[in-house]
Amino acid sequence: FHTIEEAIDDLKAGKPIIVVDDEERENEGDLVALSEKITPDTINFMITHGKGLVCTSITSDQAYQVNLPFMSDDSSDPFETAFTISVDHRETMTGISTQDRAKTIHALIQSNAEGADFKKPGHVFPLIAKDGGVLERPGHTEASLDLAELCGANPSGVICEIIKNDGTMARVPDLQQMAQTFDLKLITIADLIAYRKMNEVHV
Ligand code: 5RP
Ligand code: CA
Ligand code: ZN
Repeated sequence: FHTIEEAIDDLKAGKPIIVVDDEERENEGDLVALSEKITPDTINFMITHGKGLVCTSITSDQAYQVNLPFMSDDSSDPFETAFTISVDHRETMTGISTQDRAKTIHALIQSNAEGADFKKPGHVFPLIAKDGGVLERPGHTEASLDLAELCGANPSGVICEIIKNDGTMARVPDLQQMAQTFDLKLITIADLIAYRKMNEVHV
């Protein structure tokens, strides 16, 4: 695995990284990039080589400002992944092209974004991160948002699960292979939790 510092450097440069959660949790690797740096090309890479669902982590404050309610009020997802109603920016066409999704994501994270900027439901899936980040919930939602904060960027990340060619989930050996093939940094949420605990004296 790579260090959190190496991952931060790549994220700041606009590159995606791979973030793996616990074996006892989803045991899944997600491609993660900064929302403020997202491009149609990076989304294209995610849907070509990750093949999962492209989601965007946001703060609870931003979800409130943009008036995004939870997709389900009584979630029966064991991991309680915090999906809101999905969105498309009002100036998109189909909403699903990589250009449209990049436009929606950039609009979603603006400090002056409002509900009227978006069509609902759409093709970008916002996920509300817990305020305490990975220290509160060790999911990819919080990991992507914490990494954005560590980069000094807008607190939001774009994430997409990695599925193998045969349709099953990529596990750590597969993810290591992929990291090598595409020259991507690979980190664990466990290391991110340790990094935060080590660097934040007040926790
Ligand atoms: C949305 C998901 C993914 O698992 C994603 O990684 C976010 O979920 P979590 O924060 O629970 O890891 O279900 O596509
Ligand atoms: Ca999931
Ligand atoms: Zn996940």
